[in-house]
Amino acid sequence: MDLNDLDRPLSRAELLARVRGAAGLLSLLTDRVDGEVMDAAGPGLRVVANYAVGYDNVDVAAASARGIPVTNTPDVLTDATADLTWALILAAVRRVAEGDRIMRRGAFPGWSPLYLLGGEVTGATLGLFGFGRIGRAVARRAAGFGMRVIRHDPRSAGAEPGTASVSFDVLLAESDILSIHAPLTEETRHRFGLAEFGRMKRTAVLVNTARGPIVREPDLVVALRNGLLAGAGLDVYEDEPRTAPGLADLDRVVLAPHLGSATLETRTRMAHLAVDNVLAALAGRRPPACVNLGELKG
Ligand code: DGY
Repeated sequence: MDLNDLDRPLSRAELLARVRGAAGLLSLLTDRVDGEVMDAAGPGLRVVANYAVGYDNVDVAAASARGIPVTNTPDVLTDATADLTWALILAAVRRVAEGDRIMRRGAFPGWSPLYLLGGEVTGATLGLFGFGRIGRAVARRAAGFGMRVIRHDPRSAGAEPGTASVSFDVLLAESDILSIHAPLTEETRHRFGLAEFGRMKRTAVLVNTARGPIVREPDLVVALRNGLLAGAGLDVYEDEPRTAPGLADLDRVVLAPHLGSATLETRTRMAHLAVDNVLAALAGRRPPACVNLGELKG
């Protein structure tokens, strides 16, 4: 076994070198696992186990063409990611991070009736773009805030009590808080840009804990600067770990460093599931969370 115990992702060159001869690859979301990596591993590669629920970093078609199962870590990180989504919603709408910065600078002028007013969360309309496991967990938490929950899922409309499936147009027009919970695919890449922000409420807050490239980040900067949106709460970025020029200068934006699943308990469960996926595949069994089972021959 070749273990990367550096607590940092391998560089591309390191990955290509160290994967050579591997029967299984346990990859991080920061590793681009494409045909070149699979070929560098050689014909003995029998599984790519991604340590994340999202697997847009893995070329699944290239793996399927080589008969290699690709696995992910669903379910075990749903609650942690939904909780972090709520941390961003509350911090962005109620201007918590902005207030924290003011306090640290010693710039709090003292209480006054109109000082640092935010929006209301209780009773607001929460719009969910994507309604899989994490979107649903975010919706469940919204019940505690007495919110109206509307959702648009590019893949399925499905039924879910207490929520209403709406068109993308209605999602944009009616959400007070619009939170993204879709996987990154060719269909969702850059789904939110200036045109979409222009169709949202000027008081709305955008939250993204899914994948950065679903949002055109430079457009978000323009939209926020021009008051097309009130604020944003982001955990993921278009070009991680960098942020678009100007984003970090905006007061009404809360920026988290991709913390969605970052609790010890959740990361431990993810590790166990990723290892179970590897062991099952190497033993010739069906891995518990295989994303391309239907595409594998035989
Ligand atoms: C995932 O699992 O896809 C998350 O982004 C990791 O935090």
